[in-house]
Parts: sequence; C-alpha cells; structure tokens
Amino acid sequence: MSDRTMARQVLLFIWFLSLSSALGQVSYSIPEEMAKGSLVGNIAQDLGLDLKRLKSGKARIYTGDSAEYIELNKERGVLLIKERIDREALCGQTTPCALHLQIILENPMEFFTVTIEITDVNDNTPIFKKRSVVFKISESVILGSKFMLEPAVDLDVGINGLQSYMLKPTDNLSLKFKNQAGDGKHVEMVLQKPLDREKQNEINLVLTAVDGGDPQLSGSIDIHITVLDANDNAPVFMQSVYKATVTENAPKDTIVSTVSATDADEGINSKIEYSIANMEDDVQRLFAINRDNGQVSVVGIIDFERARNYEIRVQASDQGGLTDSCKIIVDVVDINDNAPVINIMSKTNVIAENSASETVVTMINVQDVDSGDNGKVQCSVNENIPFSLKSTNNNFFSLVTDGDLDRERESEYNISVTCADEGVPSLSSSVTLSLQISDVNDNAPVFEQSSYQASVQENNTPGLSIFTVRARDADFNQNARVSYILEDSSVNGVPVSSLVSVSADSGVIHAVRSFDYEQIKEFQFRVKAQDGGSPPLSSNASVKILIQDQNDNAPQVLYPVQSGASVVAEIVPRSADVGYLVTKVVAVDVDSGQNAWLSYKLHKATDRALFEVGAQNGEIRTVRQVTDKDAVKQRLTVVVEDNGQPSRSATVNVNVAVADSFPEVLSEFTDFTHDKEYNDNLTFSLVLALAVVSFLFIVSVIAILSVKCYRWRRERMFYKSGANLPVIPYYPPLYADVGGTGTLQHVYNYEVCRTTDSRKSDVKYGRPCSESIISLDTSGTQTLTHAQRGKLVSGDFDDQVRLSY
Ligand SMILES: *[C@@H]1O[C@H](CO)[C@@H](O)[C@H](O)[C@H]1NC(C)=O
Ligand SMILES: *[C@@H]1O[C@H](CO)[C@@H](O)[C@H](O)[C@H]1NC(C)=O
Ligand SMILES: *[C@@H]1O[C@H](CO)[C@@H](O)[C@H](O)[C@H]1NC(C)=O
Repeated sequence: MSDRTMARQVLLFIWFLSLSSALGQVSYSIPEEMAKGSLVGNIAQDLGLDLKRLKSGKARIYTGDSAEYIELNKERGVLLIKERIDREALCGQTTPCALHLQIILENPMEFFTVTIEITDVNDNTPIFKKRSVVFKISESVILGSKFMLEPAVDLDVGINGLQSYMLKPTDNLSLKFKNQAGDGKHVEMVLQKPLDREKQNEINLVLTAVDGGDPQLSGSIDIHITVLDANDNAPVFMQSVYKATVTENAPKDTIVSTVSATDADEGINSKIEYSIANMEDDVQRLFAINRDNGQVSVVGIIDFERARNYEIRVQASDQGGLTDSCKIIVDVVDINDNAPVINIMSKTNVIAENSASETVVTMINVQDVDSGDNGKVQCSVNENIPFSLKSTNNNFFSLVTDGDLDRERESEYNISVTCADEGVPSLSSSVTLSLQISDVNDNAPVFEQSSYQASVQENNTPGLSIFTVRARDADFNQNARVSYILEDSSVNGVPVSSLVSVSADSGVIHAVRSFDYEQIKEFQFRVKAQDGGSPPLSSNASVKILIQDQNDNAPQVLYPVQSGASVVAEIVPRSADVGYLVTKVVAVDVDSGQNAWLSYKLHKATDRALFEVGAQNGEIRTVRQVTDKDAVKQRLTVVVEDNGQPSRSATVNVNVAVADSFPEVLSEFTDFTHDKEYNDNLTFSLVLALAVVSFLFIVSVIAILSVKCYRWRRERMFYKSGANLPVIPYYPPLYADVGGTGTLQHVYNYEVCRTTDSRKSDVKYGRPCSESIISLDTSGTQTLTHAQRGKLVSGDFDDQVRLSY
C-alpha cells in the first residue's frame, strides 16, 4: 500500500507540473471487471484534439509505475481496457478508487490528465476462513454467555460489502447473532435458552454472511456445538421400596436384593455409588452393599430371634454429590436353629419307695425360642420306668410317679427327659435326672433255710460255737440290720437258753454247756431274726441240734456180780456134757451204736481147754467133757469190750465149781476166801475197813438212787411188774441193733432201781441209771435156779454189788 501511496503522490506532483504547462483534464468512471478492449472514453473528443495531432504528437499514456490497465487507441482517439481491472486488487477497501494517468503529446509537449474512477462491482462473496467451526459448551453455562465467532470477509465495498449475518435454525436454539453496526468484523453468539445435554447433546448451526449487492452474495460456515455434560441430574432409583426375604443363618455373601438407580448424566457424572445409609449398628453389621452394582449381601449372622425384619436405607450418589435413596424391607425367615431348653424348676433327689402314685418328682419348664412349629415342643421320658410326664400348661411339665417303686428292685433311676420341637429337621435336647429311692422297712429278714439241723459231739466244751444261722434283709442300712434272738422255749423242762445261746450280731449258736448224749440226744428251738426298722420286722427258723455219741462209757458187767468179799461160783456138774451153759456174762454199755456193741473174750482161765466164751453173747460153755480130774475150783477172767474208738473194756472174774454136791463145793470154796495167807491182824483190819466202807457206800448209793429214781419216775412211764424179780426177756444169740440208740436197748439196757425196801420195789426199764442194782438171767427157764443159786451163794444180794469201770 505504501508503494501505491507513493506512486499516487508522484502522479499528483506530475499533475501539478502539467497544470502549469497545459490545461486539459478529463475524468471517466468505469466499473471494474470490464472486458479487455472495452471502451473507457473518447479521449480525443473529450480533450478536443484531433486525431492527427494525436499521431503527430506521438500521444502516449503515462502511468508511472502503475500497471497499465488502459491503452490509448490513437486511430480512434479512445481509451480502451487493456487489462481487466479488479477494484479490490487496485484499491482494496479504499473508496473512491481511481486510476490517474497522463496523456503526453510532443511537438509541442502537452500534458493531459485523465482520471478514471473504478466503480465497485459486487464480484466478491462474503467468505469465512474455515468451512466449519466447533464449539464445546457446557450445558451449565449461564444465559447470556457470549461466544465469539470469526467474521466473514467480503472484499467488496459499500453496499456490495458484508451487510449482515444469519444464524439458522434460530427457532428453539438459543444462539443469537448480534451484529455490531459499522463493524462487520465482530460477530458473536449469545445464549438465550438453557442448554440441556440430556435433551440434545449436539447442536448444528449454519452462520450465513450476506452482502448488499444485487444479486446478493452470501457465504456460510457450519457451527457444531457439542453440549458438554454438567452434573445436573441426580441419580434416581427404579423403585423407592424394595422387598426381600432372607433366611436366618444365611451364609455370608448371600445376596438379599439388588437395587438400581440411574443418572441421566453421562460419563463421570453418571457414575453412581451405592451405600447403606442406616445409622443403626445392626444393619451395618449384617448387610453390605456393593458400591458399584447395588447388590445387598449378608455379612453378619442373621438371627430371627433378634429381629424379624430390617429396613435398609440405600443411598445412591453420583460424583457431584447428588443423591437419591430407597429402602429395602428385609423379612427374616425363621429356621429351626434353636433346640428346646429344659429348665428344671424344682427337683427331688430322693423319694421314698412307698410314695403314692402321681407324686410329683420334678417340675420342668421348656423353652424354644424359634417360632411356629419350630418352637412347638413335645417332651417324653424313657420307657419302662414307673414315671411319666404330665403337661400342665404352656411348656410346663411335671414328672410324676406312675407305678409302684421298690427300692429292693431298683434303687436308683436315671430318668432322661427328652424334648423335641416340631421343626424339620427337629431339634431336641434332654436332661437326665438321677433319682434315688429311699428305703422303707418293707422286707422282713429271711433265713437262708427255714429249718436248720446241726450236730455236736457230746462232751463238748461249754461255749463251743456249733454253727451259724444267717438271715438276710433286702432293705437298706438300719432296716437291714439283722439281730438274732433265741426264742424262749424249754427242752425237757429246762429253758433252752441254758443249752444254747445265739450271738445277736453274728447268728452264731454256742453251746452253753457240755452235752451228754446219754442224757439228751437232740433238741429243737427257734431263732428269730429281727431287723432294725421301725417298726421292726422279723421271721424265725427252727434249729435242731443233734448230739453225737462218744465212746465215753465203758461196758458195765451186770452179771456175774463181782464181790471182793463173798464168793459167787457157778456150779458145773461133773456130768455136764460138752456145750453145757455154765453161765452168761451180761454187760451193758450206755453208749449207743458202735460204742455199745459189746464183745466177750476169755482172758484167763484155770483150764483154758475146758471153757469158752461166746464172743457176742457172753455165754460160757464147756468145750469138753468134764472129767474127775478137773479141779473143783475153776477161775475164768472174761474181758468185755465195746466197739468204740478207742474201745473201752471191763473185766469180770467168774468162779466155777466143778462138783456134784453142794457140800463139796462149800468145802472147796472156803479155800477160795482163804486162798492167800493173810496175817490175822491184817485180815481183821481189812474186814473192819471193808465193812465200814461198804456201809458208807451202800448208804450213799441208796441216797443217790432214791433221788434219781424219784426224778426218773416223774418223767417216764412206769412199768409195773408183779414179780419181785426182773423178768428176763429172751436174749437173742446175736446182737440185735434195734433203732439208732443202741444194740441192747430192749434187752440189757435197763436198770433196776431199788429203794431201801428193795425186794418189793417197782422195776423200771428204760434209760440207764448210772448206778443201779441189777439182777438178770439168760433165759426164762434158768432164772429161778440162778436166782436161787445166787441167793444161796451170796446170801445178801444187796451187799454184793460191784461196778466195774
Ligand atoms: C427445538 O426445540 C424443540 C423443543 O423445544 C425441539 O423439539 C426441536 O427439535 C428443536 N429443533 C432443533 C432444530 O433443534
Ligand atoms: C445312672 O447314672 C449314673 C451316672 O451316669 C451311673 O453311675 C448309674 O449306674 C446309672 N444308674 C442306672 C440305674 O442306670
Ligand atoms: C415263726 O414263724 C412262723 C412262720 O414262719 C409263724 O407262724 C410263727 O408264729 C413264728 N413264731 C414266732 C414265735 O414268731
């Protein structure tokens, strides 16, 4: 431009010079863009020059530096367009725009100034630099915000220049064009309606610039507006209330419910985070929510028994802090997870065995915290025990007796009470009650045997324990403490307590004294066993004591009677045959059995060949014919022995006279008494002493016999006999062991008791008197002869008793 300005100044300078030399000046006005060769003006005519002068003057155009747009046609004397003229290129926005040129003539030199004004033609459209422009505008911008636009450019000037802008569409879009008058270069959009990305996230506009030419030209630019999101939307839950159920004891991470909220915003503004808003501890403890997807899951242990439902308040919030909330109502479903609990309200540990039926033993309360069937409880006790459960009311039970108790059968019960609920599966619990049955004295002592029999050897030591009775009592302790008592009774007139005693504690039966089989063979009594209960119970048993014989008595020779003083002799006639029965040794043994079995032996004899003794019957018989050579005086010693262990024996001397006449015998037997030579004095003394002793002895014997016989008579049956002499029954050749008491019970085992008036006294048979006067004979036929003989020989029978022991 500065170049152009300088060129113009040069032109002006030249123009002033020419003014001084020539006065020709002409102006033209042409539009730009005329075609080449177009006529600008008839310069010759306008300057008043003729064509010859132009030729002669060598007319030419002077434009200085300027491009030559114009040429001079000398033949026609006109100015023509040499080059297309672009006003915008020539002058830009300068108005008016003119070309200045000189026409110079020589010979003479003349200057003519020509001014050609170039008028504007609307040959330029408004132009935007870019085809489109992009805006990113937040939806949150306030109304009235301005957005600068790049203006369009129209090279034309004046009316052909840029006149206005139009923004389309303009209806509901809030962008408005504001034209600043006079300055076409400034254009901006103003927001007049709020943006909402959620409704429209992109706006496309067309900005059109128009000029004022005719025809009107326009240029346009696309405007893309991207509406940027602003966090203007809060999250919104799909439902405000959710319902869910969860079983109690649900495992961790069980999903209870899923909540969902949406946010109309986009991107980060639509990112929702979920959280539990409850302040209550338990909800926080039991439930957790996934902050991203809204899943509510279990994290604690849900217990129906603590809470049956929960209200979880969930909050959703976006990044901008906008929130919404909803609630989840969670119902807890009961599970049978609680066993019944058995509480013992009252308890009896001990019950008496005679307790009545329906006696309450224990009260029980049962609780099950579950609900519905899970909390309904049934209770039972184990079978086969005399107890039952009675339900009183809501979960109270009483355990009562239901049958007879017997401590002796079952002293203790373990009663197990089981309670089960009706849940599926059912849960149960049980307790075991231990119950003792206390004793009542309902059992009497019982002897092991109802009767006892024991034996004891006679001659026992007093205090000897014979044997033991024992009774048992099924009761307990004091009720079972048995003491033994001897029941009062009498044996043969003596109280039994004088025979035996019973140890109260041990039941041992002791002999109180020494027993004599010969006096008492057996006796019976009862022993009572009594327990220590109150009242006491008792039972009794009979005890029979058998006394066993001992060989404590030696045989007693009854006949022939032994006498030291007088001489008794049996007479054997010399005519006697072989086997003649001389006499019979008669002995008894008060013992019994073997101890009383007697045997006879010939111990010594004057002539052993003449006599023999029957071993069993004691008969002395001749074994050969008696001859005249045989001595008159024969003396035999017979031993009587019993069969006891050890055996006891007695000896007897038998004098036998072998003679045919009594005087012969007498004469001989005086020798018997004087067998030995005695000193006269000695003989006298002896006779005197013997007489005194015999007298005293007889007195005492008579006294004893009187007492004994008196007693004996009281107890025993009497046997009366008319005969003065004993009746001698038949004596069997062999032992006849009749009954258990002894061989000679009926035959020899008798006694003859005489009072002082002995001849007329009663004869009694039976139990032996220890000291008796006995007279007997072997057979009925010989009784008389023997008796006569005895009398004949002995004189006074009473004085001749000898007892051999
Ligand atoms: C103008 O706004 C209305 C609602 O206000 C809409 O429905 C319509 O599409 C909008 N027009 C354009 C061209 O965006
Ligand atoms: C009862 O239980 C106790 C202890 O468990 C046991 O010693 C006893 O023998 C039981 N009694 C019965 C009768 O089962
Ligand atoms: C002994 O026991 C029997 C039954 O065993 C009874 O009849 C009798 O009366 C009892 N005697 C005494 C003295 O108790």
